[in-house]
Amino acid sequence: MKPADALNIDDLARVARRRLPKGLYDFVARGAEDEITLRENRASLDRVLLRQRVGVDVSRRDISTTVFGQKLAMPLGIAVTGLAGLLHHDGERKLARAAAAAGVPFTIGSSNFTAQAALLPIAGPLLWRQVYPLAEDRLFEHQVGLSRDLGITVLQVTMDSPVIGNREYIRRSGWSPGIIHAGTVRDMLGAPYWLFGTLLRYVFAGGLPEIGDMPAGERRFWGGTHAFATASPRFDWDALSALRRRWDGVLVAKGVSTAEDARRAAACGVDGIIVSNHGGRSLDGAVGSFAALPEVVDAVAPKVTVIVDGGFRRGSEVLKAIAMGAGMVMVGRATLLALAAFGEPGVARALAILREEIDRSLALAGARTLAELGRDRLQWQDGRALA
Ligand SMILES: Cc1cc2nc3c(=O)[nH]c(=O)nc-3n(C[C@H](O)[C@H](O)[C@H](O)COP(=O)(O)O)c2cc1C
Repeated sequence: MKPADALNIDDLARVARRRLPKGLYDFVARGAEDEITLRENRASLDRVLLRQRVGVDVSRRDISTTVFGQKLAMPLGIAVTGLAGLLHHDGERKLARAAAAAGVPFTIGSSNFTAQAALLPIAGPLLWRQVYPLAEDRLFEHQVGLSRDLGITVLQVTMDSPVIGNREYIRRSGWSPGIIHAGTVRDMLGAPYWLFGTLLRYVFAGGLPEIGDMPAGERRFWGGTHAFATASPRFDWDALSALRRRWDGVLVAKGVSTAEDARRAAACGVDGIIVSNHGGRSLDGAVGSFAALPEVVDAVAPKVTVIVDGGFRRGSEVLKAIAMGAGMVMVGRATLLALAAFGEPGVARALAILREEIDRSLALAGARTLAELGRDRLQWQDGRALA
């Protein structure tokens, strides 16, 4: 199969599943504990349906939008997904290049192999940055300071994971980043595309990758302390206000999913909120992202830009979020699995599929621009009105 043969995101995900070692595929695709929230992310999208309007001249359409003063080709961006460089050789550069070519933002995190400084020339202002409130203040300062010095425009701070979610599948598979069991090695040997194309390519090119944005001497990934991904359980609203005082650019709270917290975040002076439950990887049993979206929009939009992620696989679903009041949607697994399937052409294909779907669904829904979509275009699955 070639990237062009993929008709939808699920086609790309199936190729990724065949090509990745099982434990690595699980690391990406699965969710915490009983995966209730992972399923709810999808189910919450299915519970709201589009009210199709007809009789509109839709020959001229525009799916571009402006978020944080940046012009985006469509209302979509690539969410932060740590360790993308493990899924395909040089994966972070490939994601950044495909995003830049498609005119959408790419978010780089703290657990990245490629340093932000190397990604900035590729993505420019469309390189958005995520940080965990790291347990070691010194490292948090280092991460934020690096982004400030580089002139990164948008900083997201992840609020939904003060401790790491309970990902039992990782403990079973032995694919806890940096720790390798005998079973992990067997798993790797069964995935030649990944073994030769990614892991051994790193090895032959001079060694296994390190975490690019850590201070010198603390960059080790395999067998290291993982301080780059150890979140602080202390990070509270005061800490967010303090970060606001130190960060002049756009500040976004990621992982807020209630009206109460949205108001708190807004009071701390954030410019944006990402309604997110970490793709169902943190608190299992949490509300699906799309179900949480309306209360956050009603609490803080339009003063604060509300973005949503979690389970998005289709352009029509992106339009539901826009109609609900989101400024844009982020995707994590959709583009990450496309990367694992085919590298950069896979990510480009995923973004092209989503762009085509957004455009086609907009026309079919009887609208020419995203601004025409409001809650009057939605209804509950059981027929109740939403607006
Ligand atoms: C493999 C993987 C790694 C992730 N790493 C991070 C991370 O380092 N920081 C973070 O805030 N969110 C992280 N996320 C969550 C995503 O940013 C995003 O919220 C989620 O993937 C959206 O759901 P979706 O994958 O269903 O689109 C990760 C998600 C995945 C799948």
